Amino acid sequence: METALEKNPRNEPNHARRIRAVRRMFTDISPRYDLLNRIMSARQDVRWRRFAVARVPAEASRVLDVATGTGDLAIDLASARPDVTVFGVDFTEPMLRRAEAKTAERGLSRRISYAIGDALRLPFADREFDAVTVAFGIRNMPDRRSALAEMMRVVKPGGKVITLEMTFPKNLKLRRFFVWYLNRVIPALGGIISGNPQAYRYLPDSIQDFLHPDDLTELCHSLGLKRVQAFPLMFGLTYVHEGLVP
Ligand SMILES: C[S@@+](CC[C@H](N)C(=O)[O-])C[C@H]1O[C@@H](n2cnc3c(N)ncnc32)[C@H](O)[C@@H]1O
Repeated sequence: METALEKNPRNEPNHARRIRAVRRMFTDISPRYDLLNRIMSARQDVRWRRFAVARVPAEASRVLDVATGTGDLAIDLASARPDVTVFGVDFTEPMLRRAEAKTAERGLSRRISYAIGDALRLPFADREFDAVTVAFGIRNMPDRRSALAEMMRVVKPGGKVITLEMTFPKNLKLRRFFVWYLNRVIPALGGIISGNPQAYRYLPDSIQDFLHPDDLTELCHSLGLKRVQAFPLMFGLTYVHEGLVP
């Protein structure tokens, strides 16, 4: 599948190259993706997703999880909220196949549907959802503004957009430790377990290249989201941002 970015000749070629590389990388690491997440974050990724799930409005009944990957957030949400129907979208097919298998194992296939699709051109009509979530996905999208705008398009007025993303803690000592961990430990560990050290060198780069939490807040405001809030988790190592669609 070609993404919107790859098709548009006005887009920078390095963006298109980067997108292809991202899909190749997630294809390669999909068999070990969940295991490595748990090991590298000492299972904190599970807590962070649960925090994001808890921010989904109580009255929501249809929720879209963008860049759903192996479906962890979609599955957490459907498990926690029996009244919610969840849709997961991702452009890496092997990640989605894993999501489907996990969903079936948990008996949630009737309430979670997956579709292959590009976050920049979501295969859904305007205002179809009560909320949209994206966990550890938006930093892989070079054009964050367009990605957020596209998520807003599919949410009803008054509905919520929720992002969960890693960042660098403000505390200098913690930051130094995190830089060391990201640049030394993760590529080594990720390389051994996944057999793809390159993929786990991409991870620190993608976090370092991502927006500062305040800049993401600013971007949300500039797109017109209302009541924007940012929640630091684990000393600001990870942030949840949310805002309401006008
Ligand atoms: C780090 S994984 C996160 C997966 C999952 N949300 C989680 O919490 O574990 C990033 C996912 O984003 C997907 N992705 C990146 N850019 C995308 C895009 N433009 N459209 C759809 N999926 C995208 C990748 O295929 C990958 O599955």
